[in-house]
Amino acid sequence: MIRAIATLVGVFFVGVLVYSFGTGLVTYLSEPHEETAEHVFHKHPEHYDFASDGMMGKFDTAQLQRGFKVYKEVCSACHSMKYLSFRNFADLGYNEDQIKAIAADWAIQQPTVDPETGEATTRPNIPSDPLPSPFPNEVAARAANGNALPPDLSLITKARHDGGNYVRSLLLGYQDPPAELAEQFPDAMPGPGLNYNPYFANLNLAMAAPIAIDDQVTYDDGTKATKEQMATDVAAFLIWAAEPKLVERRQTGLAVLIFLLIATGLAYMSYRSIWADKKKH
Ligand code: HEC
Repeated sequence: MIRAIATLVGVFFVGVLVYSFGTGLVTYLSEPHEETAEHVFHKHPEHYDFASDGMMGKFDTAQLQRGFKVYKEVCSACHSMKYLSFRNFADLGYNEDQIKAIAADWAIQQPTVDPETGEATTRPNIPSDPLPSPFPNEVAARAANGNALPPDLSLITKARHDGGNYVRSLLLGYQDPPAELAEQFPDAMPGPGLNYNPYFANLNLAMAAPIAIDDQVTYDDGTKATKEQMATDVAAFLIWAAEPKLVERRQTGLAVLIFLLIATGLAYMSYRSIWADKKKH
């Protein structure tokens, strides 16, 4: 008797499950999908072959220096890079004196505490300091940027899918909102203080195009500073910043693979020689 009731209860639950799954499936298949503005207008980053791409890729230090210049002269007005210290710029090919000069001349000083009075104050940067943030705190950063927070850029190429290509495409992707957007999705048009960019996840972002004209910076190596060149160089710099040891990591991986291949070969050969007279083949 109890068994029969238990079976009935079980059958009932299975029935309810099958029924709700079935109706869900029918609605899913029969109703047209609700199109969203992001679905129609969002674009995936354009692919660019960075020098550091691929198994044998290496950073192009001249490009990193150019990208650093773009960061320093343009992006650092709003974006911090708190996981970088001035001494890390040795990787870009700067010597000790150049790094000391870069740190000492940095537009924002290092926050510190006056040892006499305990008051908050600032002092010139030294090579071991992290890059100082352009804003003292988040409230100040938002207040200056229409309530949007400029994210720290130290790890941005890791934090976004296809990071290097994404940053490059985002910087070059500003445009007027397409007429179809206004027709089909008037709610998705950029509001006050927002800018249309199909590479940004929700199409409208608070950052106005930071790279707006050719020759916005003057490169020390004579490279022509087109908008595309500046966007590419700063993206390469941000790829380096997020993983300065990228090239070493790949080289170590390759060495380990080669070692494992040789070790496998040796193991197989010793297996053959140990069993040679037992197997007689
Ligand atoms: C005037 C201030 C300002 C400058 C200069 C600026 N940004 Fe921004 N940036 C912002 C703000 C504000 C946001 C946040 C936008 C949002 O969330 O809508 C942002 C967001 C970003 C994002 C993140 C987008 C995302 O996916 O969340 C990246 C990447 C970025 N900026 C890169 C740069 C680079 C590279 C430069 C220099 C070439 C630069 N920015 C210069 C203010 C600035």
